[in-house]
Amino acid sequence: MNFEATEIQSQLSDLAKKFVRNEIFPVVENDEHEEKFRPELIQKLGDLGLTGIPVSEDLEGAGLGYQEYARVIEELAVGSAAYAVSVAVTGLPQAILSKYGTEAQKKKYIPRLASGKAIGAFSLSEAGAGSDAGSLRTSAVLHRSPSGDYYVVNGTKLWTTQADIAETIILMARTGGPGPKGVSAFILEKGMPGLKMGKREKKMGMGISHTMEVVLENVKIPIENRISDEGDGFKVAMVALDSGRITIASTAVGVARGALEVALSHAKTREQFGKPISEFQGVSFMLADMATLLDCSRMLVQRAAWLKDNGKPFSTEAAMAKVFATDAAMKITTDAVQILGGSGYTQEFPVERYMREAKVLQIVEGTNQIQRHVIGRNLVSPRTGSNS
Ligand code: CAA
Repeated sequence: MNFEATEIQSQLSDLAKKFVRNEIFPVVENDEHEEKFRPELIQKLGDLGLTGIPVSEDLEGAGLGYQEYARVIEELAVGSAAYAVSVAVTGLPQAILSKYGTEAQKKKYIPRLASGKAIGAFSLSEAGAGSDAGSLRTSAVLHRSPSGDYYVVNGTKLWTTQADIAETIILMARTGGPGPKGVSAFILEKGMPGLKMGKREKKMGMGISHTMEVVLENVKIPIENRISDEGDGFKVAMVALDSGRITIASTAVGVARGALEVALSHAKTREQFGKPISEFQGVSFMLADMATLLDCSRMLVQRAAWLKDNGKPFSTEAAMAKVFATDAAMKITTDAVQILGGSGYTQEFPVERYMREAKVLQIVEGTNQIQRHVIGRNLVSPRTGSNS
């Protein structure tokens, strides 16, 4: 593995950095306050080629890898974790359909997502099925019909990022008996009769990002919208989450870097007792630890991405990157608030927002307890799944 960014990686990072400077920084604090998401920014990111980085070029992706994808997500997260997560979540249907979709499914859904024309979502969790995703209860019952077989879906999903603005939602529902093997994956389309949005969560951070309850009342999903075979849905979700965890870890790297940059600049200019506070060992040691944690996080992310890009097992390494980078982001952002003192606790500076963003990253796409469970379990008895 080479530590130096390739030319294309540097170009992509620069593009994303410029986008953040011009499009996100001017609006992020106000939009966070007003809980306002701007879908047009996703279209603009698509126009720059940043919404389908790991997807093949014939499907309007960039035909690159997760090493590039992770770098772009990091830059976006310096601006706003909500937009980084939006791109990452729109990436989940793309990853799933690229791997498991039929040719018709790929052609129908991926190009609009990869080009930023459409937003995607991923709906797995329920009130009684969070970490224990395999216990989900939303039901999908197959009906045979001369005009085409279809499933009738009923249930309520929770924590579905941007479901209300998504055109394509990957839905996990139960077609069989209890447990993971009874779960199947489907493609839900915006506007399907019976697909309704429930409450939008009021959260402690990531106000820009819409977190939705999704209500399914007798939604008819044509059989051609099922992904892979009946009973494959849990595996489909897990394989996608393995990759998703790399992007959540990259989001954490961006959030942490944003906070460190603010803290460092403040420490160099804020004077107390006649000198910049960065010259006090108590502060400089904090900055040193923050920078070290940040670099370790990025290296774990890049290792997991490299393994994935090179077709090697990466499930354990993705979980390690996710748990380490998000825990590190929590520590780094909390210390950034501390370095700014009273100012850090106000909304005059972005560090309190970064701290609230870091918190949710320890929870989403598998809590950090679940990541440790995955790492520990794979250490003790390595699984022979596709990402293991
Ligand atoms: N890759 C491929 N297959 C996998 C896999 C992986 N990473 N992980 C599990 N599987 C397979 C197993 O091999 C097994 O198949 P076989 O029986 O054929 O061997 C099957 O899936 C069941 O696996 P487990 O027995 O390990 O299942 P479990 O019930 O013990 O659950 C778990 C394991 C790791 C705890 C899993 O439930 C999990 O990851 N939970 C967290 C869920 C999560 O991350 N939720 C967040 C969703 S994000 C969201 O909803 C919001 C959004 O907007 C994105």
